[in-house]
Amino acid sequence: MAKRVVLVTGASRGIGAETARQLGRAGAHVLVNYREKRKRAEGVVEEIRAAGGSAAAECADLADPAAVEALLARVGRLDGLVLNASGGMERGADPGYAMRLNRDAQVSLATSALPLMPAGSRIVFVTSHQAHFSRDGHPLPDDYAPVAASKRAGEDALRSLIPVFAARGVGFTVVSGDMIDGTIIVRLLERRDPDAVATRRAGGPLPTVEEFGAAVAEALDAGHPDGHTVYIGGADYLSGSRQG
Ligand SMILES: NC(=O)c1ccc[n+]([C@@H]2O[C@H](COP(=O)([O-])OP(=O)(O)OC[C@H]3O[C@@H](n4cnc5c(N)ncnc54)[C@H](OP(=O)(O)O)[C@@H]3O)[C@@H](O)[C@H]2O)c1
Repeated sequence: MAKRVVLVTGASRGIGAETARQLGRAGAHVLVNYREKRKRAEGVVEEIRAAGGSAAAECADLADPAAVEALLARVGRLDGLVLNASGGMERGADPGYAMRLNRDAQVSLATSALPLMPAGSRIVFVTSHQAHFSRDGHPLPDDYAPVAASKRAGEDALRSLIPVFAARGVGFTVVSGDMIDGTIIVRLLERRDPDAVATRRAGGPLPTVEEFGAAVAEALDAGHPDGHTVYIGGADYLSGSRQG
């Protein structure tokens, strides 16, 4: 039987890379998308192959429509799409970049990929509690606030497409995570705003990259109802009025 094909965006490092490794171990052919860090992406592919799996590195800046079109033309069939890549805090990024990548590019990739996805396949959108709950008045670092807003806008735009996905038999799930231990973002934050990270750690251990990657990989197969959100960590966000 042919392996199922799963595209993981932003899989050259961090959560995307871990999700790709776990999907590779579970028997998928994993397309490891990256924007510019080819060596890192090829390293992830090598790890998957060394563990007996199957994978290929796929370069495409998701904010570049021509690159996305070329990527999908190479792909052919997709049984799973993990929308993990995210950005907006890069040095030199223009003020509109976060919205172009975290909302417009996600919608564009999901709708363009749809014709390649057979009934029974699934799209998973990866987000953070800071973005998912960004309208609840939870304090955010100044430079992350526009990124959080753009990720929430991306989630909303994708949710509005659920009927379009469902008409083709394609499911849609969101996986939202607290600060994830061991990621570059949390290490940067720890240097810049140690109190923010210490406060979260005081409430219990942060989820690890392995735990979050496992939740993202499992969301492809868990058979959740369309629009279901899987929450990882962040008990305070999930208590009372914060859940939604
Ligand atoms: N870190 C956390 O604590 C945390 C918590 C909850 C949720 N999340 C979510 O988890 C996801 C991954 O986070 P992370 O911390 O693992 O990210 P990360 O370490 O910053 O990695 C970002 C990945 O996205 C790729 N990428 C960036 N811009 C791209 C573009 N325009 N086109 C294609 N690929 C692009 C990067 O590729 P290159 O290396 O080639 O640039 C890299 O592979 C995000 O959606 C984030 O919101 C993260």
